[in-house]
Amino acid sequence: MTAVSTAVDLTDVRLFAENRHHEAFRRLREESPVYWNPCADGTGFWALTKYDDVLAAYHDHEVFSSAHGAILGGSFRKGGDTASGEMLVASDLPRHRMLRRAMQTLFNPTTVNRMANRIRVLLNRAVINIRDAGGCDFALEFAPLLPIGALMTLFGIGHDDARHIVDLTRKMVGYRDAALSDLSGDERIRLAHAQSEILEFFADLLEERRANSTDDVIGLLLRSDVNGEGMSDSQIIYNCMNIAVGGNETSSYTTCSGFLALLENPGEWHRLRADPGLLPTAIEEMLRWSSTNAYVQRIAVRDTVVRHTRIAAGDAVTLWNVSANRDPEQFLEPDRFDITRTPNRHLSFGYGIHRCIGARAGNAEINEAFTALLRSGLDFELKDDPTRLHSNFILGFTSMPIEVSA
Ligand code: HEM
Repeated sequence: MTAVSTAVDLTDVRLFAENRHHEAFRRLREESPVYWNPCADGTGFWALTKYDDVLAAYHDHEVFSSAHGAILGGSFRKGGDTASGEMLVASDLPRHRMLRRAMQTLFNPTTVNRMANRIRVLLNRAVINIRDAGGCDFALEFAPLLPIGALMTLFGIGHDDARHIVDLTRKMVGYRDAALSDLSGDERIRLAHAQSEILEFFADLLEERRANSTDDVIGLLLRSDVNGEGMSDSQIIYNCMNIAVGGNETSSYTTCSGFLALLENPGEWHRLRADPGLLPTAIEEMLRWSSTNAYVQRIAVRDTVVRHTRIAAGDAVTLWNVSANRDPEQFLEPDRFDITRTPNRHLSFGYGIHRCIGARAGNAEINEAFTALLRSGLDFELKDDPTRLHSNFILGFTSMPIEVSA
C-alpha cells in the first residue's frame, strides 16, 4: 500500500455530490490502486480502483464473499444480519445459485417487453405534459416513470403503490441526503428504518397475494423451488426488496446522467438525433459514464493479495465500478463521452455470478426513455445546475430542471 498525496475519504458523500470523485479516483489509480480507507469509528475498508483488480475480485467469489451485503456500513454489514443468505445479492454459492435460478424467470423477454410497453405509455404522456409546460424537473418528473412502469408490471400493482415504493427506495438510498431524509439522529438507524418501511410494504403485499395465484413477482416466488423447498416468507420479502432497490434508482439515475452527458456534449446529442440507430452503443456509453452503482462491497473470507497488497480474512473490500470504468488502461480517453465507443466493456452491471439480473430490463427502460425523448422532436436545455445525490453508493440526482422548446 502506498500513501496518497492527499488523503481521500470515500465515505464522504460530498465528494460525490460535488462531482469531485473522478479526480480522487484518478489519484488513487495512479498512487494507491489498492487503498485502505480508514473510517472515523476505527474500522476501515479496502478500495480497489483499477479495472483489472475490480474484474478479478468480481470473478473470485470464493475469496470475496457477498454474504454481508453490497453496501458499506449498511445494516447488512455485521454478522448475524437476517438478509445474509436470504437475499440474492447478499448470498454466496451454493445458496446464490438456487435463489438466482428461482428469480431468473422473472426477467424473461416477454415480461421485459410488457414492462417496456407500460413505460412507453407513461413516457409518451409525460412528454406531452412537459412540452405543454415548457419544461420539468427531469430527475423528479420524467426519470422516476421508468421504475414506476417497471414495478407496475413486475408486481402487478397500481401507479400510486408503485410511486410509493419509488419514494421509499429513494429515501433509503438518500438516507444521507437532506433533500430526501431528515438528517437528525443516528444514520444507521435512519437507514434501517427506511429499509423496514420497504420490507413492511412487501410483507403486506405477500399477505394479499398468498390467497390468489398471481402471475407477478410474488406469485412466481411463492411457486418457486429452492433446493426442493418453497421459498420462505422472509426470502420472498427480502428478494422483492432486492428487485425494488436494485432496479428503482439505477435505471432512472443512469437516464439522468446519460441525458446530462448529452446536454453537456451537444455534438453527441446531434449525432444521436441524426442517427437514432446509434442508441444501443450510446446506452452502453451512458452506463459506463454514469456508473450509477458506484461500488459493491465484499468481505475477504481468507487472507489474499491484490497487487502486492495483503488483504486479511474478514476485511471489507470495495470494488469501485465508477473508477474501473474510467481506467485509461482499459478505456481510450476515458473522460470523453463517446456514443459510438467500441469496445466498451464497462462494469456498471457488475460481473460474474452476481452480474445484474435486471440488466436486460434496465437496458430496455433506458432505451424507452431516450426513444421517447428523440421521437418528441423537442429541444432540451438545462434551466439550472442539477443537484447531485449525497451518496457514495448510488450516483444520482435530486433535481435536474430543464426547459424544452419545439
Ligand atoms: C442501469 C440499471 C442498473 C444498474 C447500473 C445495476 C447495477 C447492478 C450491479 C452493479 C449489480 C451487482 C451487485 C453485486 O455484484 O454485488 C446488480 C445486481 C442486481 N441487480 Fe441491478 N442494476 C440495474 C438495473 C436493475 C434492474 C432494473 C433490476 C430489477 C428490476 C435489478 C436488480 C438487481 C438484482 C436483484 C441484483 C442481484 C443479482 C445477484 O446478486 O445475483 N437491477 N445490479
